[in-house]
Amino acid sequence: MKYNFDEIIDRQKTDSIKYDLRKLIFGREDVLPMWVADMDFKTPDFIIESITSRLNHPVLGYTLEPSGMNDVIVEWMKVRHGWDIRKEWIVAGPAVVPSMAILVHAFTDPGDDIIVQKPVYFPFFRTITNHGRNILNNPLKAKNGRYVMDLDDLLEKITPRTRMIFLCSPHNPGGRVWTENELKSLADICLKNNILIVSDEIHADLVLFGNKHIPTASLNEEIAKNTITCMSSSKTFNTAGLATAYVIVSDLKKRRIYKDKLNDFHLNIGNIAGLYAQEAAYRNGAEWLDQLLNYIEGNINCLEDYMQKNLPEIKIMKPEGTYLVWMDFRDTKINPKKLKKFIIDEAQLGLSDGELFGEEGYGFQRLNAACPRSILKKALEGLSRAFLNAKKYEEK
Ligand SMILES: Cc1ncc(COP(=O)(O)O)c(C=O)c1O
Repeated sequence: MKYNFDEIIDRQKTDSIKYDLRKLIFGREDVLPMWVADMDFKTPDFIIESITSRLNHPVLGYTLEPSGMNDVIVEWMKVRHGWDIRKEWIVAGPAVVPSMAILVHAFTDPGDDIIVQKPVYFPFFRTITNHGRNILNNPLKAKNGRYVMDLDDLLEKITPRTRMIFLCSPHNPGGRVWTENELKSLADICLKNNILIVSDEIHADLVLFGNKHIPTASLNEEIAKNTITCMSSSKTFNTAGLATAYVIVSDLKKRRIYKDKLNDFHLNIGNIAGLYAQEAAYRNGAEWLDQLLNYIEGNINCLEDYMQKNLPEIKIMKPEGTYLVWMDFRDTKINPKKLKKFIIDEAQLGLSDGELFGEEGYGFQRLNAACPRSILKKALEGLSRAFLNAKKYEEK
């Protein structure tokens, strides 16, 4: 079956965060929204049908996950990521970020340091600081147009209070799909220093251009015991509004600790729609996902070609994974202080401002390319138009 990713779907007035919060976020309603990380493509029919068919039963009481859900997760990890996991390692999670907050409570104490590698998905920050822990920033370095880890910097900064790392793999916003060597070097440092790896792999399935996602916990048994993997089908299949995730914990002791903390917050019961969606996604989603990835690659190539031809002063980090494009405006005529407003007012685009991801993102913007190609082209034309007036704007 051929899925149609060119279809334009009107999401306005569906209480969509991306569309219906534009006035609040950007100060105007008429920006093309390419910020928050969900897709403008239809959630696949096999997911909608699975939820709808469950809703045909008139009682929505407390419900277990659909039987077979964990079997299809095991199968998916094996086929898609070459990772052998056991059913009992899978534990429910109330979306990925809240699961990470629970892990913070379960495995660290107030005053401990948690490593992040900025620029990085910014909800990590308050998940650390608002729970009384400290951020230990190990910034990524740009090398040949892509980010790499700076492990010398990390080794210098680690102290006995460094207890956990939030690893973003694949990386948002940089689009890196970390290699086996990179992951192994980092994981070995964590093992030696007794630092628990919380590996956020929500973008695991969204890997492009022949790159391969390597689950951190698949590296070897020792690393697996020191890693907790946070996963969800929500990014891959566009079901973020269902707030459902799961964590994979191979170490029995750690699994018990996580489960206990989950129960302390009484978050061990998922929601029916999310669970049915997750089961249907992993059971039926392979063909749809392959076509999605093909379409996203087409979008990224289209964007890259357009930029090279029309706006070469904007440098893009071509993503190896995710549908997010990290764009560097520092060589353009626009003063970085005015960049955010320029993009909104002149390009009429709603992008994610780079500084949100840490001060390393100053002068950058993140564009979400998971939309019909015609919309992406409209956005690129908006950028071109804006830059025609850039000189005038700077003089204002
Ligand atoms: C790296 C990363 N982790 C987590 C999330 C959010 O996950 P959830 O909605 O399940 O909390 C996102 C969403 O963009 C993300 O990019």
